[in-house]
Amino acid sequence: MSDLKTEILGADAQGYARAAAIWAHGGRVAMPTETVYGLAADARNDHAVAGIFAAKNRPSFNPLIVHVADITKAQDFVIWSDVAARLAEAFWPGPLTMVLPLRAGHGLSHLVSAGLATVAIRVPAHPVAQAALRAFGGAVAAPSANPSGKISPTSARHVARGLNGRIEAILDGGPCGVGLESTIIGLADGPAVLREGGIAREEIEAALGQRIATQTDAGQARDITAPGQMSSHYAPNALMRLNATDRRAGEVLLGFGDMVADMSLSPTGDLREAAANLFAMLHELDQNGATHIAVAPIPDHGLGRAINDRLRRAAAPRP
Ligand code: TXA
Ligand code: MG
Repeated sequence: MSDLKTEILGADAQGYARAAAIWAHGGRVAMPTETVYGLAADARNDHAVAGIFAAKNRPSFNPLIVHVADITKAQDFVIWSDVAARLAEAFWPGPLTMVLPLRAGHGLSHLVSAGLATVAIRVPAHPVAQAALRAFGGAVAAPSANPSGKISPTSARHVARGLNGRIEAILDGGPCGVGLESTIIGLADGPAVLREGGIAREEIEAALGQRIATQTDAGQARDITAPGQMSSHYAPNALMRLNATDRRAGEVLLGFGDMVADMSLSPTGDLREAAANLFAMLHELDQNGATHIAVAPIPDHGLGRAINDRLRRAAAPRP
């Protein structure tokens, strides 16, 4: 369905005011964050939140992340704790999402938390997200601004490719610096990493002074299935082969570090650079019509863990 004219908004006072007005009227505006672009709508408005699921074709049992401008605003919605305070102090604004118990009278749409007693919340660091949230004065729910199952967008152009005609507007704030989604940490019963992401686990452990458990999909019983936790996700059109050290017939090789490749996530072997490039390069290869993408081995520490998580899902058997 392409019956909407998707407006492109500039990253200026006029653009922020327009985004805020669209949100206030229940519409959807894709906005840049430091991780990836998010498809944002008023987190208190059921109709608006339903519109996010519709635009993405997202299975509606998957809960969304609430984005707010600061800690004070976050405390309107969740039951705060000492651990939450320590993490917020260390990493907010920034690419860390905390899953906390919902507070009585929170007023959020139940679609945001998919009926759970907890909600995922974060304070994005991107100045454009900050400015738009402040112009709005409320909270927005925002999953990544891509059709469900596809590669997350790290530029306004990526968003337009996937969602043009399906959403009211795109706020163009240039490319995203981190390039991978936020790290999600569950705090409802003891800290646990629910999704690897833009803040390395080592940094979180250092901030808390303790080791933390992982509770992703590795055989754990979970009461929700999240898109980021589905096996096939973040997928380009091309088939993927991981841990490749050479290029086979018909493949393009996405390299890392000192090697001969068609394109490189980071020629110097820098994980931060590789994270920032990952989705953008997969988008580019997709657009160039690649049918088989081979990807070099990525070290499995720090941001490398999140990169490998996304690569495994991109390579997983498709539904
Ligand atoms: O960087 C990011 O986090 C981006 C930008 C836009 O902020 N957003 C993002 O949202 O990645 P999304 O919807 O693609 O991923 C949300 C993740 C899902 O894996 C979902 O399961 C998890 O958050 N989640 C949300 N609410 C939860 C809850 N109450 N308990 C456990 N996981 C939750
Ligand atoms: Mg996503």
